[in-house]
Amino acid sequence: MKIGIDKISFYTPAFYVDMTELALVREIDPNKFTIGIGQDKMAFAPITQDAVTMGANAALDILTEEDRQSIELVILATESGIDQSKAGSIYIHRLLGIQPFARSIEIKEACYGATAGINLAKDYIAKHPNSKVLVIGSDIARYGLDTPGEATQGAGAVAMLLSANPRCIALEDDQVFLTEDIMDFWRPVYSEYAYVQGKYSTEQYLHFFETIWAEYQRKFNQPLESFTALCFHLPYTKMGKKALDLIIESAPVADQERLLENYRLSTLYSRNIGNIYTGSLYLSLISLLDHQSQLKAGNKIGFFSYGSGAVGEFFSGHLQEGFKEHIVTSQHQNLLANRTKLSIADYETRFKQELPKDGSTFEIDATSDPASIMLTGITEHMRQYIRKD
Ligand code: COA
Repeated sequence: MKIGIDKISFYTPAFYVDMTELALVREIDPNKFTIGIGQDKMAFAPITQDAVTMGANAALDILTEEDRQSIELVILATESGIDQSKAGSIYIHRLLGIQPFARSIEIKEACYGATAGINLAKDYIAKHPNSKVLVIGSDIARYGLDTPGEATQGAGAVAMLLSANPRCIALEDDQVFLTEDIMDFWRPVYSEYAYVQGKYSTEQYLHFFETIWAEYQRKFNQPLESFTALCFHLPYTKMGKKALDLIIESAPVADQERLLENYRLSTLYSRNIGNIYTGSLYLSLISLLDHQSQLKAGNKIGFFSYGSGAVGEFFSGHLQEGFKEHIVTSQHQNLLANRTKLSIADYETRFKQELPKDGSTFEIDATSDPASIMLTGITEHMRQYIRKD
């Protein structure tokens, strides 16, 4: 039985920062951000968007009533969750109107979480072939104003509906995993911001990719040229390119050109959104599907997932007959086209906005955010969410 991604979509908030403008205010050569790091725009989450609302917004328009009745497991992968105890997927389950006899859980392992969710989903569907599983990766990447990590921030979510006989991409059982206890990026429970050793995290990402790729070849012997494209976790778009460069010369020249072009296409959304942590690898898949018109059923795509701390995984999938009919490209492009650019001063003011932490009531005007699902405030430590339609 084939199991995999039946539908996939993303959401990113309605505001962004232009990286050239940010560089100029920070007195940095803009080429460092746009070429050296590879980012043109950075999505910014207003106070009305969090991991819950972005995740729900990502799934909202791809689910039919039949899907809502068939989903038995809702998995939210996030490293910017809103509660140390309650799973954010419980709110998402309600906001999306999913049938009640479902499990809702939250998974954490840095940017690897959504891949762990996909593995759980596959195992569940293998035992319950009539069920569907909703896997969401949703995060706000924040390093702080005027920090080295600032240029690699972002916000957004990817929603994936997994099922038997998927219409988009069937996933193989060829996963290779690696765990090593390292401190490249972490966020203690008392801290609003992540601690990151930027250069070290980059080295570790590459070390994980090289080690896992070698083990994948030893176990499955799938040469690079057998892949139509490789999709990478993209903390910034230059990162995946550094990894691809480590192995690209093992393929014949014509295949190298195809893989490099497909890599470029897979980074277009991330280049304009930034790092969305758990959803980032799957945003690169959506970007490839939306921008590469030459893709065909049967094409093999490789995926490299990396979560700091660290866990990595490589696996593959095959595009399915008719997959193009199930991809909502125009929805994605409208979302990006209708964003509002923030001045750097406005971004800095909004960046410092916080919900009260003392139990007092704080209300937000529902018209301040065009999103269908948003936070309208907090009262007695309980976040208030609405779905407008
Ligand atoms: N024109 C073109 N490129 C330029 C440039 C210019 N004027 N100035 C610098 N660059 C290049 C550098 O050569 C470097 O390229 P390279 O990595 O290919 O050598 C790149 O821009 C970044 O410059 P660097 O000095 O390394 O930037 P930094 O010290 O500000 O740190 C990160 C960059 C990514 C480490 C930092 O943003 C960070 O810590 N991010 C969060 C952690 C993260 O994303 N980790 C990834 C793994 S999960």
